[in-house]
Amino acid sequence: MSAKPVILVTRKLPDAVEARLKRDFDPILNPTDQLYSADELIEMSAKADAILPCHTEKFTADVIARLPDNIRAIANFSVGYDHVDVDAARKKGLIVTNTPDVLSDATAEIAILLMLGAARRASEGERMVRAKQWKDWSPTFMVGTQVTGKRFGVIGMGRVGQVTANLARGFGMEIHYYNRKQLSADLECGATYHATVEDLLPHCDVLSIHCPATPETTGLLNAERLAMLPNDAIVVNTARGGVVNDDALIDALQSGKVYAAGLDVFNGEPDNIHKGYLQLENVFLLPHIGSATQETREGMGFRALDNLDAIFAGREPGDRVA
Ligand code: DGY
Repeated sequence: MSAKPVILVTRKLPDAVEARLKRDFDPILNPTDQLYSADELIEMSAKADAILPCHTEKFTADVIARLPDNIRAIANFSVGYDHVDVDAARKKGLIVTNTPDVLSDATAEIAILLMLGAARRASEGERMVRAKQWKDWSPTFMVGTQVTGKRFGVIGMGRVGQVTANLARGFGMEIHYYNRKQLSADLECGATYHATVEDLLPHCDVLSIHCPATPETTGLLNAERLAMLPNDAIVVNTARGGVVNDDALIDALQSGKVYAAGLDVFNGEPDNIHKGYLQLENVFLLPHIGSATQETREGMGFRALDNLDAIFAGREPGDRVA
């Protein structure tokens, strides 16, 4: 019997995913879920045929250049792959895959939670109750803003953007979007397409970001573009922190131009996010949990394993990005 491929698994994965890994591969697991340094990753790669990482491991051009030649693939446990220098991977002949589709529902749920949390001052209210500072009820107490019937704008109408827009339709919201390409009418479902971000922004009572982090989208939501939003808009980000210019968003939240923001992803996450957010009442902050449901985390793991199955069977993996 030929030896099973050795897979270096960088983080603790759901039990069902690790069980399938053990059945079909020879995995190097990380039961204590420690975060490996680049040097540790490179050292452990010496014994592996492929790596199954998360977005927490950064595969820069330098790291990729230092990976031993026995590594054939990086099968990510994530839809986003901005943590991998795909050009460098391609040049080294590495296959890179991601896990699309399986996390769209979970991430869309979090986007809606962020929208509602921001609109209805959920973070502020929750903190008040916990701190026993809730003293009264009055018609003017903790008044937020309603999203029902308002305009929901999406930057990046891929899978997650489409599912989120669909949930927003449940609140009677009118959908507007910017995408590199206009969707077909059956996917658009009556949404209004805007050919540029600048065209979209004035139509967003809520702006929800769903585009990937790329050099082109870095700092996309800057001061100039925030000024194009209607007054009192809400900004939601479940994509990547890098798409937002933090100083600009914090200024807009402080001035009241932006009513509130709901953020699940940050520049400098997890422990070096902009301190300005922590001082603001009108932000609803979550720790990058868009895909964090049991169902979805298993789905992501199985999808990564489907890709590895294909690679080691000599087939084209379904989710190849390099
Ligand atoms: C993703 O899949 O990209 C999520 O952000 C978790 O990494």
